[in-house]
Amino acid sequence: MNRPRADFLAGTQATEFQVNGRKTASRAPRVARLADVLRDELGLTGTKIGCNAGDCGACTVLLDGRQVCSCLTPLGQVEGRSVTTVEGLAKSGRLAALQVAFQNHGAAQCGICTPGMLMAAAELLARKRRPKEEDVRDTLGGVLCRCTGYQKIVEAVLDVANRPVLAPAPAAGKAIGARAGKVDGIAKITGAEKYGADAIPADSLWLRVVRSPHHRARFRLGDLDAYVRTHDGVVRVLSAKDVPTNGFGIYPGIKDQPVLAESEARFRGEAIAAVIGSRSAIETLDEAAFPVAWQPLQPVLGLDAAMAEGAPLVQADKPGNLLLDGGVRRGNVSATFPECAAVAEGTFETTFVEHAYIEPEAGWARVVDGRIEVHVTTQTPYMDRDEVALVMKLDPGRVRIVPTACGGGFGGKLDMSVQPLVALGAVLTARTVACVYHRPESMASTTKRHPARVQARFGCDAQGLLKAVDMDALFDTGAYASWGPTVATRVPIHATGPYAVRHVRTRGRAFFTHCHPSGAFRGFGVPQGAIAHEAMMDELADKLGMDRLEFRRLNALKVGDITATGQVLEHSAGLGQCLERLQPHWQRLRADAESFNAKAKRLGSPLRRGVGVGCMWYGIGNTALANPSTLRIVLSARGRLVFYNGAVDIGQGSNTTLTQVAADALGLPMTCFDLVMGDTDRTLDAGKTSASRQAFISGKAAELAGLDLRRRIFATAGAPPEEYRDRRYRLQLDRHFVVFRKSGITHRLDLSKLPRDANGDVLAGEGRFDPPTTALDPNGQGKPYATYAFAAQIAQVEVDEALGTVKVRRIVAAHDVGKALNPVQVEGQIQGGALQGLGLALMEEYVPGKTENLHDYLIPTVGDAPAIDCILIEDPEPLGPSGAKGVGEPGLIPTAPAILGAIDHATGVRMRQVPVLPHRLKAELDARSGRRT
Ligand code: FES
Ligand code: FES
Repeated sequence: MNRPRADFLAGTQATEFQVNGRKTASRAPRVARLADVLRDELGLTGTKIGCNAGDCGACTVLLDGRQVCSCLTPLGQVEGRSVTTVEGLAKSGRLAALQVAFQNHGAAQCGICTPGMLMAAAELLARKRRPKEEDVRDTLGGVLCRCTGYQKIVEAVLDVANRPVLAPAPAAGKAIGARAGKVDGIAKITGAEKYGADAIPADSLWLRVVRSPHHRARFRLGDLDAYVRTHDGVVRVLSAKDVPTNGFGIYPGIKDQPVLAESEARFRGEAIAAVIGSRSAIETLDEAAFPVAWQPLQPVLGLDAAMAEGAPLVQADKPGNLLLDGGVRRGNVSATFPECAAVAEGTFETTFVEHAYIEPEAGWARVVDGRIEVHVTTQTPYMDRDEVALVMKLDPGRVRIVPTACGGGFGGKLDMSVQPLVALGAVLTARTVACVYHRPESMASTTKRHPARVQARFGCDAQGLLKAVDMDALFDTGAYASWGPTVATRVPIHATGPYAVRHVRTRGRAFFTHCHPSGAFRGFGVPQGAIAHEAMMDELADKLGMDRLEFRRLNALKVGDITATGQVLEHSAGLGQCLERLQPHWQRLRADAESFNAKAKRLGSPLRRGVGVGCMWYGIGNTALANPSTLRIVLSARGRLVFYNGAVDIGQGSNTTLTQVAADALGLPMTCFDLVMGDTDRTLDAGKTSASRQAFISGKAAELAGLDLRRRIFATAGAPPEEYRDRRYRLQLDRHFVVFRKSGITHRLDLSKLPRDANGDVLAGEGRFDPPTTALDPNGQGKPYATYAFAAQIAQVEVDEALGTVKVRRIVAAHDVGKALNPVQVEGQIQGGALQGLGLALMEEYVPGKTENLHDYLIPTVGDAPAIDCILIEDPEPLGPSGAKGVGEPGLIPTAPAILGAIDHATGVRMRQVPVLPHRLKAELDARSGRRT
């Protein structure tokens, strides 16, 4: 358990209060944050800390029945009062109805906001048994959720009035497609789940990173030995010279990011040193006293500066600051445009976007039997293992990564953060070393969505059939490569949008600048490209006088079509079905907008409504690279199944959906499974949780593992070969027996009589899947992905033309997911993704040095969240488990294009820069008015 700072134990005056109905007393200073006292002194780590500044609400508890941010509540204020935390919601081991409703509705995804949400909702329900939706939204307004889109949370709170009971787990053979509750859901709704900062060993040293305050600066460290000697509690300072191999990165040949910068910092927030000491020493560290001399240099900021003739080089060996130039060429674009009946063109700009997961980076490391063990919040344990080993100059077998629960990632936890630092610290101090980023540090130092400038030109014939696409996308990749190559490669492949077109020339280039690295963020650049291709589709439809949705349906890729990379789509291309299902909503919402606008005009109101549509396609998994996943299920002599699942669940629900798949393949209920997730010593490599790959790739591996174990059970029991495929056999685990029956035939396998391994396991099934792809040739031709997800969303907005504000009233999202393994999880992914897309469109703009907190960087609150209706299309992908593809990224990609199209429909103004902040839209509206007069 976390150990409190020494000053918590030093106070003489005890503060007495009640926590969850029990009297307690704390000797922490009366100014101590209640959140710290709860977590560190009382061990109630269900209360989370996302910002320590009153912005996120993760720390919400009840104080005398009213919700408060415990990070802003001094201990002295709770004297004689009653505090309720999430641990106090269940009574005598029985979940509260509110917790039951959260579990049934899938209201917890990553779960880091869940305790705060539950406590806020509990306040409301204590005074209003049947609240209205507005009451719920008002009550939850202070708690941020980055995963869910809020809809399932609101639905869960409203459902409490119906006295919900916990939905039973699906029966054997009925798991796939069931709206099953999360297998790890109870831990999330009771506060028992342990995230990166929740289970730091009591004897740990703590580590704090010293970071550059400049975009670019040379620096010289002073006398570090003297610094250690003269600062109580500080035991060591790490600098670049301590790092065995001072470079890491995503790609095998690009290890360009130092763990600690050597003499020049290349972005504001870059790590230059790390101080290790007691928790008190680290938490009260005065950074101004750290011995470092800075010499600021002229930074390269923005694409224009990076590409300018003679621009300083961010990395000396990267001429022109160019990281990568990727592209796709097919047909003859130049010759085709003159033949087109209509041509649309435009340039679109996007900015840095912050992941804003509510759990900041956190973890700890220790040395165990000569090996390094890192416990950390991550999306990619195996890559972390290899990178830590590289940095430490060790064989990967000498490193173990144990993922904690992950409080949101969205791509941001695919890059290393605390991992190499705590590992190095643990080795050099021979102690456990922990590090928890504070919110501004998290925001300043970690990756962002790539700012993009996308120039697009689309042409079609008189019937509306697309003929040619020309797109050139530039990306600001920041100081280090991170996932820049992936973005610059993936975007040209997706640049046509999900449409059939014969002549294509697309290009993606990423440039270095003196900013934090741009990395992976839900979509790998495809959302930026989609803003451009969907604007082109709107404009072409308008030029031909065609309906915007119909125009897309006419051009939608379908089975048998050839993509821009020359790939024939053999199966599962359901965009046409998505658009078909959206059609009635499109007509209804447009009719509503028309009548609203007519009335508004009559009344002289500045409000205007509009409806837009956005489409997308998304290649599932790595681009043109091997992308395997291997999973294992074992059966113990005692008759217990353990699912060794290396795929990290970061909130999207893969622990649950993969168990559903494995359970049905094996033929036993989900409740028979215990789960080990992501531990690199105990699971096999299931790859990264990225690129919407886990449902498709690890899902298939889970299916194969379940089938393999079923086959071994049958074979061991002496059943004829291939008999295991007979689904009329019903399996049952009865203590240490596996019993399988079919119309009068019964086999019993006594597991206790079988030879067992060191763990007591007697049988194991393993499944591996690597989707078939090919490398791309110099023209970008090949088969980069085995399958694609397709989606279309429509958005209705209301624009205040006097203020330039935009309110999204409703989103209807139709997604071809192949097969919805668990519709609750799929809907949650779509709703959460769509709200992040809304943030991208309307409010999120990260500015280094200016928006490094959740007060200045705005993400959508429950008040910004529209109703998001989901339509699930199941056009099965034969390669996937029961036909499933992926949905994590697709939820976000079409939303911003739909909103921008809706603004255009409402006002006649096509915004070409996101986010559409009120001043930007107002300026364009004023310019439009100027044009009209
Ligand atoms: S941690 Fe208290 S509001 Fe964010
Ligand atoms: S479930 Fe709300 S932040 Fe993840």
